Amino acid sequence: MLDSEKVKCIGVLTGGGDCPGLNAVIRAVTKSAISQHELEVFGVEDGFLGLIDNRIRPLTFDDVSNILDRGGTILGTSNKANPAHYCIGNDPAGRPIFADVTDRAVRNAREHDLDALVCIGGDGTMSGAAHLVKRDLRIIGIPKTIDNDLMHTDVTFGFDTAVFVATEAVDRIRTTASSHHRVMIVEMMGRNAGWITLHAGAAGGADILLIPEIEYDLHKVCARCVDRSRRGKAYTLVAVSEGARPIGGEMVVDRVVQESPDPIRLGGISEVLCEQIAKRTKLECRATILGHVQRGGKPTAHDRVLATQFGHRAVELLMNGEFDRMVAMQDGRLTSVPISDVADRQRLVPLDHPLIAACRATGAIFGD
Ligand code: F6P
Repeated sequence: MLDSEKVKCIGVLTGGGDCPGLNAVIRAVTKSAISQHELEVFGVEDGFLGLIDNRIRPLTFDDVSNILDRGGTILGTSNKANPAHYCIGNDPAGRPIFADVTDRAVRNAREHDLDALVCIGGDGTMSGAAHLVKRDLRIIGIPKTIDNDLMHTDVTFGFDTAVFVATEAVDRIRTTASSHHRVMIVEMMGRNAGWITLHAGAAGGADILLIPEIEYDLHKVCARCVDRSRRGKAYTLVAVSEGARPIGGEMVVDRVVQESPDPIRLGGISEVLCEQIAKRTKLECRATILGHVQRGGKPTAHDRVLATQFGHRAVELLMNGEFDRMVAMQDGRLTSVPISDVADRQRLVPLDHPLIAACRATGAIFGD
């Protein structure tokens, strides 16, 4: 298809880890495409996996009604299927064998006459999408992830809901922490970025925030717990990112998903800290790993609005012939950036972020 030709038929897929607001985007893309431009819309099941396996089905207006507030994704997703680096089995030693199956994915898209593909995902999905662009598939990306770590957009949908859930958890843990005079450590997701911990820690009034961007000194963390206890404070609340690590130390790996293009899954730092702090301070400590509860359930109003704006803008970009771009929010304005600028990159919390300064100024420490 030539760039000058009008788009008549599009595919939509959700890739990577799920997050609240995916259905709101699918709805916005499908409804805008059908009602405003009379496009034909197909849903690709389980992200790039469905494109590789040719599981592609029509999406109608009715299919996307009543899903605005629903968590998860009606299309399903996968965080193990990048067409350019796809696990096709294991060698005799059990090691995964990867192959480039982009040809297969492109063939399936062509079989359904897809003029373009809307890829809703994070950095891994944008990386897969960037490879498809090289094979002349026209792509529009929409930034999704609870981690809020995509380059060139100030915010991703899903983040606000994750922060809301994590803050609610911190609020609840505070009351039991107070009753038992304990050090309570709450572990939050985010991979290598501390956005969720920074925001939920600030919103929940955590006393100690540990994020991947600032290596912590265990001695200072313990000293703060002891100091608070000596000053008669009933408890200490620690908000820690799954990717946080001590000065010169390593992140705690929960598991390695061999067949995934991004195989490392973090998790467990709160339990390590719990033991270390209890041993050094003699204070009673407990750890809570919030885990996937941060990714499930209804999106907040903010995420529904953002998702709706992103989905609508994606269709506008397609109709304007602005391909191979990801929708983005910059300084409160909807815009778009080249997908290749986003693929395989992560946006970490800058050390001069004003919220870090605000937390410090209101008495919290980052363990540095
Ligand atoms: O990227 C979203 C995320 O929830 C991360 O915060 C977390 O590290 C990872 O996905 C967990 O992946 P999985 O669902 O494969 O355990």
